[in-house]
Amino acid sequence: MEGVSATARWTAAARAVESRRPDALFTDDLAEALAGPEGFARWERYDNPGTTEFLAIRTRWLDEVIARSAHTQVVLVAAGLDTRSARLAWPAGTVLYELDQADLMEGKEKRLAELDVRHRCDRRGIGTDLTGPWDAPLRAAGWTPSVPTLWIVEGLLFYLAEDAARALLARLAALSAPGSVLAGDLLSHQSMISEFTRDGLARLRADGCPWLWGSDRPEDVLAACGWTPGEVRLPGEEGASFGRWPWPPLARDTKGLPMNYLFTAAV
Ligand SMILES: C[S@@+](CC[C@H](N)C(=O)[O-])C[C@H]1O[C@@H](n2cnc3c(N)ncnc32)[C@H](O)[C@@H]1O
Repeated sequence: MEGVSATARWTAAARAVESRRPDALFTDDLAEALAGPEGFARWERYDNPGTTEFLAIRTRWLDEVIARSAHTQVVLVAAGLDTRSARLAWPAGTVLYELDQADLMEGKEKRLAELDVRHRCDRRGIGTDLTGPWDAPLRAAGWTPSVPTLWIVEGLLFYLAEDAARALLARLAALSAPGSVLAGDLLSHQSMISEFTRDGLARLRADGCPWLWGSDRPEDVLAACGWTPGEVRLPGEEGASFGRWPWPPLARDTKGLPMNYLFTAAV
């Protein structure tokens, strides 16, 4: 895996690390095998203070959003090496679509088959470019526009150019039947300019997977793209700490410190 695809191995490694803790916020038994040695090397290379903690919180927070949702049509937008299809209990009849780059999806299918993974829902993997006409292959795989969708956009938006990320969010809104929900994370602009992320950002750039943008106004980004913001949380805030965030939550107007927003939104 190269470039941005390889970041999926990093986040898989972070889930494997969390899973080993006695107080793990979730258990991803497949993460270690999917991350491989390259994933753990990237996890060490990109680990800034708070990054691994944030990734654990993000996974758990989105697990809880999914658990609260009654949607039976779910799309992981940029699924990477996510294993929720096997890890979570899904409502009967759930169809889970996983979108990601074709090379990543191809390798993932092969590895999941080697590991003899049993999915707990009807999982359908789709290789596509999320900056292109990705909804055609999604429809071809059976996704139904009239059924409300739970869209999960986890660890993706800052790897896309801002225009492409906004276009994707707007397309998701346009495709969404009433009752659809979007949940994910958005990097802050402060994370892009903080002295504490400078080295990490340089390493990501050197590896061909730069973080490209962030916003300190996540609600405005969502609203401009056709979404009504729901919960917006910083790690450490109520419901987004799980005892894992080592610091008090930052005030929203804090300058110069990295922040990542977790959000839900509705159409
Ligand atoms: C950091 S990983 C996150 C993966 C997964 N959601 C997780 O949390 O582990 C970023 C993912 O975005 C995918 N990605 C980035 N740009 C993409 C694009 N233009 N089309 C499809 N997938 C893309 C990468 O292949 C990678 O799997």
